[in-house]
This record gives sequence, structure tokens and C-alpha cells, in this order.
Amino acid sequence: MSETKATAAATTSSRSSNYSVRPATEADMPQIDVIVNNEIKVSVSNFNYGPRSIEEGLAWFKSTIDGGYPILVATTLGDQQQEVVAGYSSLSSFRQKDGFRFTAEYSVYIHHEHRKRGLGRLLLKELLVEAKKRNFHAIIGSISGGNDASLFLAKEFGFRVVGTMRENGHKFDQWVDNTFVELLL
Ligand SMILES: CC(C)(COP(=O)(O)OP(=O)(O)OC[C@H]1O[C@@H](n2cnc3c(N)ncnc32)[C@H](O)[C@@H]1OP(=O)(O)O)[C@@H](O)C(=O)NCCC(=O)NCCS
Repeated sequence: MSETKATAAATTSSRSSNYSVRPATEADMPQIDVIVNNEIKVSVSNFNYGPRSIEEGLAWFKSTIDGGYPILVATTLGDQQQEVVAGYSSLSSFRQKDGFRFTAEYSVYIHHEHRKRGLGRLLLKELLVEAKKRNFHAIIGSISGGNDASLFLAKEFGFRVVGTMRENGHKFDQWVDNTFVELLL
């Protein structure tokens, strides 16, 4: 990162030790896709079965931003002083109908090599600040069975467990429960 860019990042973003949070750009999508595609491959935190293509990732970026939803990235510097995307958080439509426009669903994904360093907490915190700025009222999370880290994180921010839908997901040849959490802003 150039000195000017680093200064700009420090003044316009939130920092945690070696990490900065800033709004994502299209240029971040290849790295975001790597994070998401790894989760798709190994876990039920994402219910897609196959990897997202570059085109699909860019379409997701455009529709999210055009829909008025934020995407944030946490970045750090790699071995070659290049900017590395360590995780991201985003909001998306909860349901398309007009009356649900003040409700959004959140996602937080941290690259497995950058977990347990407070990044999930940092990205969710900044996402909730963005959500408030954008006048959202209710933030929903859908947490798959066994995802203790995600449930812990949600509760830490005051999300209320609304209930668990049993076996509404199916992946890796098994049924998966999903617990819904909600925070009113
Ligand atoms: C869930 C996830 C976002 C947490 O990110 P993270 O950066 O590792 O979390 P943090 O370091 O900010 O930890 C926040 C708290 O969660 C708890 N936590 C983190 N990982 C945990 C784990 N594997 N099991 C139990 N608790 C855990 C910690 O106790 C931590 O609190 P502490 O710092 O006081 O110990 C991350 O594990 C992830 O990306 N998982 C895959 C994608 C996913 O499940 N996303 C959520 C669905 S939207």
C-alpha cells in the first residue's frame, strides 16, 4: 500500500492492531471469493454447494451496493507489503417485499488464517454502525447448527435468539438446523 493510501485508510477506517476496515471495492472481489469459496467447500456456514465464479461474485457486489447495502473488508499487509483481505462483512436483503425494507441480514466471513484475532468482532461492529447510518431497523442472522463462534459473536452484540428452524438446510448429505438471531437498532 502506498504511503498516501495507508494514511487515507488510517483516517477513514477503523483499525485493530494490524488490520483496517474500509468499504469493499470491486477490486477486492477475487480475495473475497477465495474466503467465501473456502467456506462453501468445508462448512455449512454457507449453503451453496459449488464455488462462486468471478462473474457471480461481481454480480453479487453490484447488486448489494446498488441495493443500498454495505460491504466492508478488513485488510492487512502481506509479506510483500501487498494489501491482503482478511475478512469481510455485509448486509443483504432479508426479504424483497416493500415492508421488509428496514430489515437486513448480515454475513461475516474471516479467512481461516486470520480467525480468533478479533476480526469478526471488528467487522460486525463496523457493519452495525453502517446499518444504523443507513436507517436499518432490524438486523437478522441465520446461524447454522454447530457454528458456536458465530452464535457467541451475535450474542456478544446483543442479538436475541429468535428460534431454531430444524433441518431447513441440507448439505454434505445431511440435514442442518439454522438458528435465527435478531438485533433491533
Ligand atoms: C464466526 C467468525 C466470523 C468469527 O470470526 P473471528 O475473527 O474468528 O472471531 P473473533 O476473533 O472476533 O472472536 C470473537 C469471539 O468469538 C469467540 N469465538 C471465536 N471463535 C470461536 C470458536 N471457534 N468457538 C467458540 N467461540 C469462538 C471468541 O470467544 C471471541 O471472543 P474472545 O476474543 O473474547 O475470546 C469466523 O469464525 C468465520 O468466519 N467463520 C466462518 C464463516 C461464518 O461462520 N460466518 C458467520 C455466518 S454469517
